[in-house]
Amino acid sequence: MEKQALQQLNQAVQTVFQQARQHVLTKMGEKLTVAEKTSRKDLVTNVDRSNELFLVQQLRQLDPQAHILAEEGLGDHVTSLAGHVWIVDPIDGTMNFVHQRNHFAIMAGYYVDGEPTLGYIYDVMGNRLYAGGPQVGVTVNGQPLAAPADLPLSDGLFGASAPLLIHNRFQMQAVVDASLGPRIMGSAGIQISQVLAGELVGYLSYLRPWDFAAGRVLAESLGLVVSQVDGTPVNMLSSGAVLVATKRAQRAILAIVTQTM
Ligand code: IPD
Ligand code: CA
Ligand code: CA
Ligand code: CA
Repeated sequence: MEKQALQQLNQAVQTVFQQARQHVLTKMGEKLTVAEKTSRKDLVTNVDRSNELFLVQQLRQLDPQAHILAEEGLGDHVTSLAGHVWIVDPIDGTMNFVHQRNHFAIMAGYYVDGEPTLGYIYDVMGNRLYAGGPQVGVTVNGQPLAAPADLPLSDGLFGASAPLLIHNRFQMQAVVDASLGPRIMGSAGIQISQVLAGELVGYLSYLRPWDFAAGRVLAESLGLVVSQVDGTPVNMLSSGAVLVATKRAQRAILAIVTQTM
């Protein structure tokens, strides 16, 4: 896509995200309807659905030819990354949304023929919108975001996921031990935004496409690396253990993880 068209789209999507945030804030003042999806630890609310519907409708208006893969199933049945594809997570961190009313994000990633093109992570309660992509740059609330320092694992905090750390999958305990310590937020979007901001040197979690579609675009735009846990490239249409990290931290993490693979 032409740079000018991308810049226009980037501005328009940021406006949609502001509206989506207002929608969520308004709905938070009303009674929530909470349902279990696959277990008591996997929730969905009326706001996940209504915000997804809002995002799908708005993104469709901005780019009618795009296909939309959305977590709660209100988008399209997407089986290919050919053409323009949006990958949407209407509320990332639903458990936090329900129990903390804090620490959750609205996210979308835009891929053109599989190429990471635009990404949006909106920390709703922190009111921080991370937006942009490789051609348009990355901003936070409209201000340019500088690339984080390429710190080694030993010099930074590590974003863990609770299940991987508790069950020591992928040598997670050794990875954390080699860092300055673990941090767990319960929202992939919030934790990836902390890697973008240089607050964490990496984040490893088992993720589905909508959990990391936005974060991948933003992270790669800032010189961070996104890969599967064995170092191979991620696939935006499948789930797996995904590592977002500085280049130096990635090297150390892969050395620990692949030792026992
Ligand atoms: C979840 C959160 C959580 C991660 C889970 C995701 P959701 O997203 O990002 O941090 O550990 O794997 O499913 O379901 O709240 O959008
Ligand atoms: Ca969910
Ligand atoms: Ca999610
Ligand atoms: Ca979600």
